[in-house]
Amino acid sequence: MIAAADFNITKAEHSKLNDINLENIPFGKYFTDHMLEVDYEDGEWKVAEIKPYQPLLLSPSLAALHYGQAIFEGVKAYKDSEGNAAIFRPMDNFRRFNISAERMQMPQVPEDIFMEGMRQLVQMDSKWIPEQKDHSLYIRPFMFSSDEMIGVRPSEKYKFMIILSPTGPYYVEPMRIYVEEKYVRAVPGGIGYAKAAGNYGSAMYATAQARKIGYDQVLWTDAFEHKYVQECGTMNVFFIIGNTAITPELEQGTILAGVTRDSAIMILRDMGYQVEERALGIDEIIDAHKAGTLKEVFGTGTAATISLIKELKYKEYVMQFPIEQWTAAPALKDRMNAIRYGQEPDVYGWMYKI
Ligand code: COI
Repeated sequence: MIAAADFNITKAEHSKLNDINLENIPFGKYFTDHMLEVDYEDGEWKVAEIKPYQPLLLSPSLAALHYGQAIFEGVKAYKDSEGNAAIFRPMDNFRRFNISAERMQMPQVPEDIFMEGMRQLVQMDSKWIPEQKDHSLYIRPFMFSSDEMIGVRPSEKYKFMIILSPTGPYYVEPMRIYVEEKYVRAVPGGIGYAKAAGNYGSAMYATAQARKIGYDQVLWTDAFEHKYVQECGTMNVFFIIGNTAITPELEQGTILAGVTRDSAIMILRDMGYQVEERALGIDEIIDAHKAGTLKEVFGTGTAATISLIKELKYKEYVMQFPIEQWTAAPALKDRMNAIRYGQEPDVYGWMYKI
């Protein structure tokens, strides 16, 4: 077990916090006073450093820049009304991080470095955790290959880091979504289930095309038939049809196993909904819409939390939803927030106190 003394800690001389207004902050724009940095070299992790947030000095031949061995996580810390800070389900992110690392032929990050490093960093910068509604401290652990060589092979050196960003909601407004039928995000056997940087870079072109015609994000469909829905933008997606919440299953390996997705499944079940994780075709969605049984559509994600989808466009068929009449997604969001902000008992054991 790594103790505090095992981290090399250098405190920032001045806090930047006084220069930043934590009211209504945009997502991912500001970073706290400290960061964690640790190098992997000669088959082992070196001493982790927590130090003032600062730029990195990197070689132009850095392997990650050329071949994309780069993965990340998104985690959030919250404060309750008494000012106690806690992180939402970080162990789940830790496990997923190492699943991504394995798929990208990168070393496993030890639990002590990931969890204790995150805990100490968040504790040091805990005054940065915003307290207002829908705000939190976004925690971004990431790892990239750091060999200075442009031969195509797994790197021998890696850097693992954690940075923190006080943040407001990611998607501010209910979203208009374009059902994508040309470009694909993931295929079975690919890296769709990994939180690899390239998954996000490769999504940008299709998203930009959808934006040009007035849509916020795309709803990805399967690579073979463009029929089964997968993920939506940076989120997992849920459809409530009748009294059943349906979300695409993980077994194909094309979908990120979202921590918020998993939490939503548990809360929805406790709210009395049937939840099915299964293949969901766009035909079934359209049929339900025509029959009036398609009740609600929303995305889930760490950054996005629960984001309402107010419109779906598939070919020429446009579905517009009366989101002001919805009950499930708003109740789900309220329940999740109540647990995160300590207003309701943490019956699921999700909050990791720092
Ligand atoms: C997250 O929800 O943490 C994500 O990964 C989305 C991010 C790319 C903004």
